[in-house]
Amino acid sequence: MWVRAARAMRALRRAALLLPLVLTALALLLLPRPQALAPAPRSPSPQAPQRLDIHTENAIMATDYASAHEDESAHLPWFLKGGELRPRHHDPEAKLFPEDSPGDDRVVNQLMYTLPKDENVPIKKILLANGFGAWGVSGGRTEFVRNKCPVDRCSLTADPRDAATADAILYKDHHTPFNVKRSPKQIWILYYLECPYHTASLRPSSVDVFNWTSTYRRDSDIVAPYEHWVYYDPLITEKDLDRNFAANKTKKVAWFVSNCHARNRRLQYARRLSKYIQVDIYGACGAHHCPRNDPNCLEMLDKDYKFYLAFENSNCRDYVTEKFFVNGLQHNVLPIVMGARASEYAALAPHNSYIHVEEFASPEELASYLRRIDEDDNLYNSYFKWKGTGEFINTYFFCRVCAMVHANERRQRSAHYRNVQTWWREGACTRSEWRTEGQDSRDTRDNG
Ligand SMILES: *[C@@H]1O[C@H](CO)[C@@H](O)[C@H](O)[C@H]1NC(C)=O
Ligand SMILES: *[C@@H]1O[C@H](CO)[C@@H](O)[C@H](O)[C@H]1NC(C)=O
Repeated sequence: MWVRAARAMRALRRAALLLPLVLTALALLLLPRPQALAPAPRSPSPQAPQRLDIHTENAIMATDYASAHEDESAHLPWFLKGGELRPRHHDPEAKLFPEDSPGDDRVVNQLMYTLPKDENVPIKKILLANGFGAWGVSGGRTEFVRNKCPVDRCSLTADPRDAATADAILYKDHHTPFNVKRSPKQIWILYYLECPYHTASLRPSSVDVFNWTSTYRRDSDIVAPYEHWVYYDPLITEKDLDRNFAANKTKKVAWFVSNCHARNRRLQYARRLSKYIQVDIYGACGAHHCPRNDPNCLEMLDKDYKFYLAFENSNCRDYVTEKFFVNGLQHNVLPIVMGARASEYAALAPHNSYIHVEEFASPEELASYLRRIDEDDNLYNSYFKWKGTGEFINTYFFCRVCAMVHANERRQRSAHYRNVQTWWREGACTRSEWRTEGQDSRDTRDNG
């Protein structure tokens, strides 16, 4: 692979204009992922309908980029807009599983994995225990072929009669075993969309049966983040701005919220914050109203407000949802975040794109920093320089499931969670701030 890569490099050197992009693409392909290539959020096609909207919005940014860099986009990996670079060779050393690359979500590695060519690989059968509807997909090979998965030798079924012969069974949120003998080669996967507070406990007999997990957590086997950011070039995390994001904004902090009793006491935090800076709370817990489906509500974030409270309803490890990615990052507003640890946001968000509440000792201190940003357009704009340096990608969940089932067999890897409930719940969430849990949040100050 290295030899071929070198040859390819020589050829491309001639096209000097393309080189930076080619290097990026090769880096994506060949190098262990640098820290800067922040991994993360979800795009499991699991919830396809919502996802589609998100990606349409992303397309705006991607299209701007594509028009400016038409020639280069063909050398971006296939999962980026306009990207055509696909994995050409099987890499037996690919880092796909959690133990291959601890701390890394491996989403890009999984998307760039492929099987050896000219090998007649048998189709793997994947049984969706909760039916097709739960995933918004159809049966057979459609999902893999339509998405041009690099590994597409899989077939989806929802027929319980396939339980004995399926290569893998995917359980969503619950586990009701099929009444057939299990082959030791069959892979059982547990998928959770929500955080531990909002997922039901498994029966004791079900805690030690799963081989893999698939959740938003980055130590899951198949990470299914809410959104996943990828830089075009991991070395370029900022761009000069051609506009002033503070222009015409007259209001300070907005928050859209409907659940007033979240475990992490976010409402109390917001109310304390509002003593020191204007916080407009929209919805059931506040004095402001804007109908949920009215697009003008989110538009206010682009036009009127400087800051948006992207507060999750629970403080759980790696738990960062659309509140941050869509309401926040995909509008021209600076998100203030509460949910996962500051270090976890740093690993999954674009560089310098938000402010974490735990960077400040108190709501009062946060407010005084926000007032400072409010008066300094340069400082405010420094939080928007990531825009245009990458994309939130579709992470092609089922492509990755298929790749992993094949990879597992090639490696003859065997693994299972002794107690998947312990893995999922123990130490995963806190009802207070992370720093009072004895977690070190000091090393996260670099974000702001
Ligand atoms: C601010 O308002 C002016 C006047 O209405 C308009 O021309 C300009 O485009 C606005 N700027 C932004 C960034 O929205
Ligand atoms: C899956 O887990 C079971 C135990 O729950 C184990 O017996 C089996 O060997 C594992 N299979 C693979 C392919 O890892």
